[in-house]
Amino acid sequence: MPIRRSLLLLVQAALLCSAVLLLALTVSGSSVLAQKVERATSPVDTIAAHARSMVNEGRQTFRYETFGDQAFWTGTLKIHQALATVSPRTALAVGLKVDADALPQSVRHAIRRGKVNLDDPAVTAELLKLGAVVGVQGSFAADGRLTSAAITCALCHSTVDDSVAPGIGGRLDGWANRDLNVGAIVNLAPDLSAVASLLGVDEPTVRTVLQSWGPGRFDAELFLDGKAFRPDGKTAAVLIPPAFGLAGVNLHTYTGWGSVTYWNAFVANLEMHGQGNFHDARLNDAAKFPVAARAGFADVKSDVDLVTPKLAALQLYQLAIPAPEPPKGSFDTAAAQRGKLVFSVAGCANCHVPPLYTEPGHNLHTPEEIGIDGFQAERSPEGGYRTTPLKGLWSHAKGGYYHDGRFATLGDVVDHYDGTFSLHLSASDKADLVQYLKSL
Ligand code: HEC
Ligand code: HEC
Repeated sequence: MPIRRSLLLLVQAALLCSAVLLLALTVSGSSVLAQKVERATSPVDTIAAHARSMVNEGRQTFRYETFGDQAFWTGTLKIHQALATVSPRTALAVGLKVDADALPQSVRHAIRRGKVNLDDPAVTAELLKLGAVVGVQGSFAADGRLTSAAITCALCHSTVDDSVAPGIGGRLDGWANRDLNVGAIVNLAPDLSAVASLLGVDEPTVRTVLQSWGPGRFDAELFLDGKAFRPDGKTAAVLIPPAFGLAGVNLHTYTGWGSVTYWNAFVANLEMHGQGNFHDARLNDAAKFPVAARAGFADVKSDVDLVTPKLAALQLYQLAIPAPEPPKGSFDTAAAQRGKLVFSVAGCANCHVPPLYTEPGHNLHTPEEIGIDGFQAERSPEGGYRTTPLKGLWSHAKGGYYHDGRFATLGDVVDHYDGTFSLHLSASDKADLVQYLKSL
């Protein structure tokens, strides 16, 4: 009896257990199922997946897309002929960068050990074949000859971290390449007659202008107004800005031409000479933009539009690039903390509104408001200067500050504001403010 009873109890217990287990399985099973359904249909997840695929597509465009601009760089300027004779040492000297991740490990090791002949143009060709020259896309014939070369956004708006050697390392998308001598590179092209006839000058004049730019500079407006020099005789070319930390910012470029996607379309069509469509009736203003009006840049149409389908993802990618954090130890933390207060008290934060460090809204000012001349502002539709977003300022110290690099150091920028706004900052306030700017 006790045996039978305990057996019964055991059976009952077992039944109960399996019932509980079954219940648990059913519950967890249905919740797994519910989750699955949720994942498949939730709008949030669809959007996130879409964003991920667009970011990947935009990155490809930013790094590698030429928009068919080889027709100009190869067909018209014949720049590939020059590139075929350039040694890696010369390429690095004019600021071109090499993407170490595109190199086989053996090559990276050989470079580190100094075993790669940087004076041999054949090595440049190899780098181009590997797709390792940042912002330059080459095509090769079966016999190994370079048959075409073209440029991408990354040429000017990416650099590398120098982890393998100076100029050779991991890509830093969005960083301004302030070593890049665009003028010197374009000057390598054997035939600049097309640029000369666009500008209505002779070819030697074009070459003199290109020579005058220097490292880290480019003049997008030259091809609209033909103005190569400022009234003081210095180059009219401006510093290449970073293309990171731009989300939330309204107007872009130093003079506020438009949004990120406006400027992307502008550059792809009018500067890189890709094949696409572009519209901006403001360029019909023949007094302000004589070259653009003559050339019909206000309404550009190509048989095949290689630009417009790329704009959405390209914009999303750019907006997704964060400004880089300053390296540890690159500024004095306590001084930066004090400088934050100076930034606010001195009125800097009225225009450079944290955390965007530009105005939410219409972020454009007259030249008088910031105490400088209006030369560059007047080369743009609205005649103003856009408040520069200051995040990641530390990463583009080379070349100076303001659109034309007129201030060599942040101390010079602060002194300028001190005078213009009659701030009467003490020496220690100024020093703290500089440390704060370095911490952004
Ligand atoms: C030859 C060098 C060069 C190339 C190539 C180039 N840019 Fe630029 N980019 C510049 C310069 C210089 C400026 C500043 C223009 C100005 O204010 O006059 C600029 C400005 C910008 C800005 C505005 C940044 C800001 O602070 O508001 C964005 C965005 C940008 N470029 C994106 C692109 C994209 C996308 C491409 C490729 C389609 C591209 N650029 C190709 C040189 C270049
Ligand atoms: C009236 C609005 C305004 C105020 C106030 C202002 N700024 Fe600016 N700031 C600008 C504009 C516009 C530019 C772009 C000038 C140019 O590129 O020529 C600029 C550029 C800068 C730059 C250069 C960024 C670069 O990448 O070249 C720094 C640094 C800067 N400001 C710091 C400050 C500090 C510090 C203060 C306070 C002392 C201040 N600003 C006050 C509008 C303002």
